[in-house]
Amino acid sequence: MGDRRPLITGNWKMHKTASATRTLLTQLGKQLHGVGGVDVTVAPPFTALGAAAETLAGGGIGLGAQNMHPAEEGAFTGEISAVMLVDLGVQFVLVGHSERRAIFGESDELVGRKLRTALAHDLIPYLCCGETREQRESGDTEPVIERQLRAALQGLPRQRAGDIVVAYEPVWAIGTGLTASPEQAQNAHAFIRGLLADLLGPENAARIRIQYGGSVKPGNAAELLSERDIDGALIGGASLDADSFAGIIRAVAR
Ligand code: PGA
Repeated sequence: MGDRRPLITGNWKMHKTASATRTLLTQLGKQLHGVGGVDVTVAPPFTALGAAAETLAGGGIGLGAQNMHPAEEGAFTGEISAVMLVDLGVQFVLVGHSERRAIFGESDELVGRKLRTALAHDLIPYLCCGETREQRESGDTEPVIERQLRAALQGLPRQRAGDIVVAYEPVWAIGTGLTASPEQAQNAHAFIRGLLADLLGPENAARIRIQYGGSVKPGNAAELLSERDIDGALIGGASLDADSFAGIIRAVAR
């Protein structure tokens, strides 16, 4: 993971009520007491963000949302804006998760607009990318990642760009128990870092943390993060339980 500080993020998806959020974050806080050298962030569902902000206040765990609308406000029934998230104490937002792309039809262009709105409100976008099984099998992994990243990042002002996070999540590894091998993941991460250098300049590319996501567990996290360009992990299932999430964090703490 080079000189970049590891970043471990829990993406809770549509799990955990506000009260379950308080319980989980309290347990996690206890388990992580004294663990250092790693940044930890969580993305609970919208309805639990207020409870999470209260529980995390003053602690070392960062808070994010899983999605947001690209507009500041307006007639968008059921949607949540960056301003609302910031007001709750949210610091980052996932954009372009494969479930948003596949199930909710989000285009590369929409993902790019969300990313720009997030930056405009000082929310750190965690830009997710990754190929499906069919795309990997037909040799399209790199073109797919390239299309997703170019669409979202082209023309981004370079002064802002070093703060973003990129998550590489092969769709075939998400929630399936199939993890990319450290070598497969490293190859994709090295390709992404090259693209970031192209799009945002070499200094930003060297700074941006690239997380791996897809069936990360306490038993495979350290090996993945020992790869040069793997700077963290975005974790779904294993982040829903304090023991397994803390197990991953302890495995990669320096
Ligand atoms: P998983 O999900 O850890 O359950 O595979 C990862 C993600 O979708 O972010």
